[in-house]
Amino acid sequence: MEFEDAIRTRRTHKAYRPDPVDRATLDELFDLARWAPNHHLTNPWRFRVLGPKARGRLKRAAEEVERGSSSKLDRAPTLVAATVELTGEDPVRDREDTLAGAIAAYIVLLTAHDRGLAGYWRTPAVLRDPGGRAALGLGHSEEVLGLLHLGWPRQEQAAPERAPVGRFVEYLD
Ligand SMILES: Cc1cc2nc3c(=O)[nH]c(=O)nc-3n(C[C@H](O)[C@H](O)[C@H](O)COP(=O)(O)O)c2cc1C
Repeated sequence: MEFEDAIRTRRTHKAYRPDPVDRATLDELFDLARWAPNHHLTNPWRFRVLGPKARGRLKRAAEEVERGSSSKLDRAPTLVAATVELTGEDPVRDREDTLAGAIAAYIVLLTAHDRGLAGYWRTPAVLRDPGGRAALGLGHSEEVLGLLHLGWPRQEQAAPERAPVGRFVEYLD
């Protein structure tokens, strides 16, 4: 896929075919994520691929947070918790590391799309909850970026409108 086409045509998918993404493909995506720009080369990103037990723990935690919410965690065959490891010592560095982690997560979604996979960056409430954090074994110094959903798409997705360039770009003197 052409690079620009990949950027323009990546979409959020909420319906997936049941087959999970194989580990070799996931490792290729994570290998590419390493090339996110990263001040001080801190490698702050962490990715946890949820196996059946981890998904079960997260679903139980989700039910505690909001009854009925766990079924949304069954939408995609492959779930990846994306976090960043922060020091808590330097707010500037922590912010930069959070931004670098978000870029790494986007690389995972974009390169998944390039391979014909569907993706979805979701930030469910359970990941802001101590029970959800414990379900995934997150450390105190980790900040959650999101739960990346991956799998094979069921259908095409229409592109939501984007604001035109003139609305958000200024060329200063
Ligand atoms: C940080 C972040 C968090 C998001 N969290 C959610 C979410 O919790 N629920 C949701 O439906 N979409 C979520 N999204 C996906 C956006 O809604 C989606 O990207 C947007 O609608 C544009 O659609 P597109 O990805 O197909 O271009 C999130 C995206 C980002 C970058």
